[in-house]
Amino acid sequence: MKVLPILRKRRTVRRFSDRGVSRDMVRTLIRAGCFAPSAHDLRPWRVVAIDDMKVKERLADLSSAAYLRSLNSRKVGGAEEKAARARLRLIRAPVILVVCLDRSSLRQEDSYRRKRNEWIMATQSVSAMVQNILLQASAMGLAGCWRGVALFLGATLGAVLDLPPSFEPQALVEVGYPSEVPRKRMVQPVDVVLRFNTWAGE
Ligand SMILES: Cc1cc2nc3c(=O)[nH]c(=O)nc-3n(C[C@H](O)[C@H](O)[C@H](O)COP(=O)(O)O)c2cc1C
Repeated sequence: MKVLPILRKRRTVRRFSDRGVSRDMVRTLIRAGCFAPSAHDLRPWRVVAIDDMKVKERLADLSSAAYLRSLNSRKVGGAEEKAARARLRLIRAPVILVVCLDRSSLRQEDSYRRKRNEWIMATQSVSAMVQNILLQASAMGLAGCWRGVALFLGATLGAVLDLPPSFEPQALVEVGYPSEVPRKRMVQPVDVVLRFNTWAGE
């Protein structure tokens, strides 16, 4: 079984064709996600898949307004244009997966250090799930983009999607059939990343 070609094939895609993604396909993606490893096997991930244009529009309107406020407060140039682009991008994604961490599924700990580490392990578990989703999407001829912007949109996502208070949005994953060919990717040589036994050593 060769995994490397599958990993190599997965690329981030930001433009999608109009071809729809069925709910069965979305279920297959999430099923793949659920095979991810998770700390204490707690599987803290929960996902809302947005495929309804009205919901996409509501989310896009509110999130681009929040983005515009943030850009203006930091006096970033071209704010209107940037916010309009961000809005269109969400609307054009055939399906948006909102991947959340459910805090209520975590172990209850007393100390700050243990609580924090449990939370970090939960975010790592959710990340492993997102990677599985992206790999499954690629294997099905779909593509996606993992978007960290979910971290800035907790309140907006909570309100638009009626999320329980224990849900922390961790990632938006835009999914669809690709309509762009990604640039050639630069992969780090293994020797830049890896040393054996000590960092100072071989
Ligand atoms: C945590 C995380 C957050 C990301 N956020 C964004 C984002 O907000 N917008 C975006 O266009 N791409 C985002 N990406 C995608 C990266 O830009 C992309 O993975 C990287 O450029 C490498 O390209 P590749 O996925 O094709 O190998 C994110 C990726 C990760 C892992």
